[in-house]
Amino acid sequence: MRPAIFLLSCLLFATSVAARENGADARIGKALVSVTALRDDVLRIRIAPDGSLPADESWATLPEARKASVPVTPDGAAGFHTQSLSVRIDPKSGTVRVTDPTGRIISSGLGWRTDGPGFRLDFALDPATHIFGLGDKMGPLDRRGRQFSLWNTDAYGFQESTDPLYKSIPFFLTLTEGRAAGLFLDDTFRTSFDFGAVHPDRIGIEAAGGPIDYYVFAGPDPKAVLRAYGWLTGTPPLPPIWAFGFQQSRYGYKSDAEIREVAGRLRHDRIPADVIWFDITVLDHNRAFTTDPVNFPDFPKLVSDLDAMGLRSVIITDLHLAAQPGYAPFDSGLAGDHFLKNPDGSIYKGPVWPGPSVFPDFSKASARAWWGTLYEELYNRTGVAGIWNDMNEPSVFKVPGLTIPDSVLSPGLHNVYGMLNSRATYEGLLTLQPDRRPFVMTRATYAGGQRYAVTWTGDNSATWNHLRLSTPQLLSLGLSGIPFAGDDLGGFTGTPSPELLTEWLAIGMFNPIARDHSEPESARQEVWVHGPEQEDIRRRFIETRYRLMPYIYGLAEEASRTGIPMMRPLFLEFPAEKEAGGEFLWGPSLLVAPSPWPESPHPYKVVLPGGGDWFDFWTGAKVDGEPEILPEPGRLPVYVRSGSVIPSQPLVQSTKQLPDGPLTLDIYPGPDCHGSVYADDGETLAYKRSAYYRQSFTCGSDRPGELHLDIAAPEGSFTPWWRSFRLRVHGETEVVEISVETPQKNQRISLMSALSK
Ligand code: NOJ
Repeated sequence: MRPAIFLLSCLLFATSVAARENGADARIGKALVSVTALRDDVLRIRIAPDGSLPADESWATLPEARKASVPVTPDGAAGFHTQSLSVRIDPKSGTVRVTDPTGRIISSGLGWRTDGPGFRLDFALDPATHIFGLGDKMGPLDRRGRQFSLWNTDAYGFQESTDPLYKSIPFFLTLTEGRAAGLFLDDTFRTSFDFGAVHPDRIGIEAAGGPIDYYVFAGPDPKAVLRAYGWLTGTPPLPPIWAFGFQQSRYGYKSDAEIREVAGRLRHDRIPADVIWFDITVLDHNRAFTTDPVNFPDFPKLVSDLDAMGLRSVIITDLHLAAQPGYAPFDSGLAGDHFLKNPDGSIYKGPVWPGPSVFPDFSKASARAWWGTLYEELYNRTGVAGIWNDMNEPSVFKVPGLTIPDSVLSPGLHNVYGMLNSRATYEGLLTLQPDRRPFVMTRATYAGGQRYAVTWTGDNSATWNHLRLSTPQLLSLGLSGIPFAGDDLGGFTGTPSPELLTEWLAIGMFNPIARDHSEPESARQEVWVHGPEQEDIRRRFIETRYRLMPYIYGLAEEASRTGIPMMRPLFLEFPAEKEAGGEFLWGPSLLVAPSPWPESPHPYKVVLPGGGDWFDFWTGAKVDGEPEILPEPGRLPVYVRSGSVIPSQPLVQSTKQLPDGPLTLDIYPGPDCHGSVYADDGETLAYKRSAYYRQSFTCGSDRPGELHLDIAAPEGSFTPWWRSFRLRVHGETEVVEISVETPQKNQRISLMSALSK
């Protein structure tokens, strides 16, 4: 950024701080600093260098949250407090300092200044603070000591040091000695974040434009920060249940026959799967909303045949449209004036997959509505179940910057373009089928984009390092409001070795979205390609995912309701814990512990957080001490936290198939022992009208040797597939199983016999 031309933090004159019912306004010279308590634990800080705040607009935040406020208590001349935080505005510099009720710092502004159309904000950085977030940035989960920039970029073949990537999520969470806080800068321009790289005691944020508008979240529990961020920017809608099944994709499936061969092999080899993805090779001349009449002569029939096999179809529809008269989306878009224009008023064209292409102006509601109508044929007649929005950074080939120039797509819209593309798709699908949950996957997005689409991490590589880095990427997306995310299992570019693919698929079964995808230049990488020995191991992990589906779907529902991610860093459940190696939590109860050096045969120690007991997930046995793992092919250590009740189901080949048998509840006794199960029809929005089933379980002991399970009366009006529970108690003794009818009222089941055996 150019040298400051307007350094307000040094001005020493003319200040006043005026209390408001819900905050305070400070006048520093000409500038206005406005602090509003939206809630007890959420502040919004807006700074207007010229004294007048711009129109209150945002692509990211929900208007009802952004405009909310609570009364505050004034504190002397320059501050106020709520129950969760105190605010002081420095009357000289206009910097804002936020502390908790005990005086510990939540956010401490050091200065701010404008710089041409942009600005810079500085904050103090405590030596003990760790920093998380900013979406799917590469490298260690803790962002401290590094710099990042946010500018949505088609980062084909990205590596560990590549930055920027596809998404821009200007939100981060700080963790200081177990206490969390958060900051969200609602700025859609190119921004950069320096987390103590230049000055170890400073966070420096620069933006190339946009209003100065940021939010501070008081925490102090990390989950409270995520819930508050979800409150402000929206939690993601619950995807259909099939989105959590195993998904097979490849850029390179070229014909009806090839797709049928893949689908047939999945079923023949009894590899549970829910989705087949159709990449651009299904299209006619790479044109979205068409299909190749030669290689896919009857696409609707293919889709319905796959459906009959329990396999949903997701199809790609890139936003760039061939600039070709006679191509219907081009013609209707032109007629409706929906395309981006050059400064001289002509339609902008740039080369992408179909050749010279035009680009919808998704910032216009009319263009979004028109885009949504393009799905009618695919969604309402062909029967595709979901849509893939790719290339929406937006990517343009063979031009400087590999994107649309600023003169055509304003730099304040660049980072939101992908999100608005996925919003148009999401809203379009919902208009076409108002009671069906839309499934949209987007590559680029901005904060708040979780309201419209799930995501994946783009074009990764088939290397051990990419496998290792995929965990922090997905964890970080979950910490940035985007819990429904996956990476290309096996790697997109390059060909994985048999061992790498096996390990990747194993870990991937504990990721929110589990999709095997690869590019045409690489060898095929379906589950079976390396022979029966590898296939058996891979199938076992996929089967584990399907057995755990009641637990997994429950995590998804929780994420959609609260913003708490499915895949969690250790600190989310245990705020005092440091992150350890390649470990992560899958929901509150399971700890997945792949090697921190996945390609190395070296033994490694697993950290079992929280100080309580843990059980081995695979054997059910209680673990003694901290396990030392000798890496072996096909071995992925997974542990269960004591005090957990985990629901699971009989094996099925897809989520469409009804499980046959009881719902199993695995009980791992321990302090605060609880769990729950959630079910609904998996496909419609009826769950919002109370057609769901939720039941919680607590297990406890009134005296030594006694153990019981309390099953609460179910909530909701939905009738799930199971008629009975199979309870399995894990403990020092052998596993004991009891069967009970599914209770409709509160019921206590004595498990005493289990422990006295
Ligand atoms: C780029 C995407 O990242 C990749 O997943 C896809 O296969 C290709 N585009 C082709 O559509």
